Amino acid sequence: MGQDNHAEGNKTLQIKHIRPYQVLRIEDGFFEEIKFFMPQARGAGSTSTIESILLIKLMRIVDASYIFEFGTYKGLTTRLLLENLPDKNITSERVFTLDLDDLEGVKFQGTDINLANEVLNYKRKYLTSKSKHLVKQIFEDCLTFDERQYLNKFQFIFVDGNHEIDYVKSDTEKSFKMLSNSPSCIVWHDYGNPEFPELTAYIQNLATTKQIYHIEDTMIAFYLIGKKIAARDSN
Ligand SMILES: C[S@@+](CC[C@H](N)C(=O)[O-])C[C@H]1O[C@@H](n2cnc3c(N)ncnc32)[C@H](O)[C@@H]1O
Repeated sequence: MGQDNHAEGNKTLQIKHIRPYQVLRIEDGFFEEIKFFMPQARGAGSTSTIESILLIKLMRIVDASYIFEFGTYKGLTTRLLLENLPDKNITSERVFTLDLDDLEGVKFQGTDINLANEVLNYKRKYLTSKSKHLVKQIFEDCLTFDERQYLNKFQFIFVDGNHEIDYVKSDTEKSFKMLSNSPSCIVWHDYGNPEFPELTAYIQNLATTKQIYHIEDTMIAFYLIGKKIAARDSN
């Protein structure tokens, strides 16, 4: 079975809703210690506490050396992933993160424009890290961003930029081209967010051709190759 062929007999594929423990129980071979930054209880624009833990876990599951993030915002997730990179004894850039430095001509949905405005000229959180030299900050509209320079490079890609459907579609298509060989994963944020129904519908449609999981109690959906999700407890 090829990595994109997940057809199960004649059954139509659809998104699988799984419990957080089904991700947390996957073996990863890492030490127990993590570096954590507690998200604000109701912080808009970034990930929740449980989502942050799951992002670290997914990054470990695929043993990510190279990471790409669509949508840096304040650099909170960038910092989280950076501080939990497996081997700090490295000097080249490992976490690539993309955001805007100009909003001219960009379409936005819901409150997205406020987030984009908020971080124009913002001193991003990862800049206080000792490992900040491992981050490559890219300032460009994701629609014009040329993914061909990064084909098959990243083990972990986080799609969390512009939630307008044309942008989500473009970021997703680019992500599949930039995704490295197994094990690797693409993670989308805001699945099920009532503010972005087209995003949810798009991922559900994608899930008819690729096996996509949604983690219940979160807005995380992901595509994972090379690792198996733990079984659901029967009760
Ligand atoms: C939801 S926030 C990202 C949150 C961040 N990933 C985190 O976890 O903390 C979305 C970000 O996408 C950026 N963005 C919006 N439209 C964009 C575009 N066309 N190209 C690149 N970035 C864009 C915004 O400026 C904003 O900072």
